[in-house]
Amino acid sequence: MSRPIQALIDLAAIEHNLSVVRRYAPRSRVMAVIKADAYGHGLLRAADALKRAEGFAMLEIDAAVRLREAGYRQTILLLEGFFSIEELAWIEQYHLSTVVHHHEQLAMLSAYRPRGSLNVFLKLNTGMNRLGFTLDQFPAALETLKANPAVGQITLMTHFARADESGGKESVAAQLQRFNAVAEARNLPRSLANSAAILRYPETHADWVRPGIMLYGASPFPDKTAGELDLHPAMTISSKIIAVQTLKSGEGVGYGHMFCADRPMRTGIVAGGYADGYPRHAPAGTPVLVHGRRARLIGRVSMDMLNVDLSGIEDAGVGSRVTLWGKGLPVDEVAESAGTVSYELLCALASRMQIVT
Ligand SMILES: Cc1ncc(COP(=O)(O)O)c(C=O)c1O
Repeated sequence: MSRPIQALIDLAAIEHNLSVVRRYAPRSRVMAVIKADAYGHGLLRAADALKRAEGFAMLEIDAAVRLREAGYRQTILLLEGFFSIEELAWIEQYHLSTVVHHHEQLAMLSAYRPRGSLNVFLKLNTGMNRLGFTLDQFPAALETLKANPAVGQITLMTHFARADESGGKESVAAQLQRFNAVAEARNLPRSLANSAAILRYPETHADWVRPGIMLYGASPFPDKTAGELDLHPAMTISSKIIAVQTLKSGEGVGYGHMFCADRPMRTGIVAGGYADGYPRHAPAGTPVLVHGRRARLIGRVSMDMLNVDLSGIEDAGVGSRVTLWGKGLPVDEVAESAGTVSYELLCALASRMQIVT
């Protein structure tokens, strides 16, 4: 028998979440972001649920090739572009689109002799200060691309730094204004919005939106839940209690005795630890569901197991179902308790995890 921990991937939830993107951005094409193995949900699995999207975006060229070979005919965009001139041959062969964000990529493109033409998303740095040409560099970069016979369609693109923050309005407006100042006269397709901007800033939607986290049913905002946004959780991690301990007052639990019982109590040992992707730094009090009822994590998370307080859940015992996040327990809540974001928890799903759909 295999360990009872599993990740249930709900493809209908992903499909539903795509419909929420459409509701918010009805006039834009959707570039579904499926990098990092579709935020841990499985590249081809998620792509199947997202097959009505007009495009897919990711980082890894081998994943992009796999997607194309699986028969997807949509735009497939490499968000960091290419890293060597050799990759341009792959990009051409598999009709991939590529971001171009620095001069070395422009130079490689100029040196490349394709048979056809490559579609390019020219990235502007409007304030994120991560990837992209500055506004000063942009006109020359665009002219270089336009003069290059290897380049077909050019789309202008940028990325927001603070669209997810409740106080991010001014920052988004400033980035949008900078982007429009150079993009408006160019009459080229545009792409700006991630999930947070799709949900909060309709003025950023433009031709292509690029949702990631919302497709997987988590909220990009600390001040708004996924449920309030009508997003359905796509990943539910569940396991079972594999042992029960009865503690006397003063007895400690697990490595380092990080939790000490202040009264007689029962604890459940759950098959699931940091080698499965559960955050080791989650503190005591992090919520879990036992038999669908809320309980709390106690003690230090170990590689393969964690402890839950069974106080008040008298009918729980060996074999009881435990939910670590997902349906009934938003991943955002667990992430917040662990001092991180849902993105990190979803992407950190371990390869040993049993996936069911
Ligand atoms: C360039 C770019 N666009 C879109 C996204 C999707 O962002 P989110 O998952 O917040 O929707 C990402 C993710 O980090 C990104 O790097």
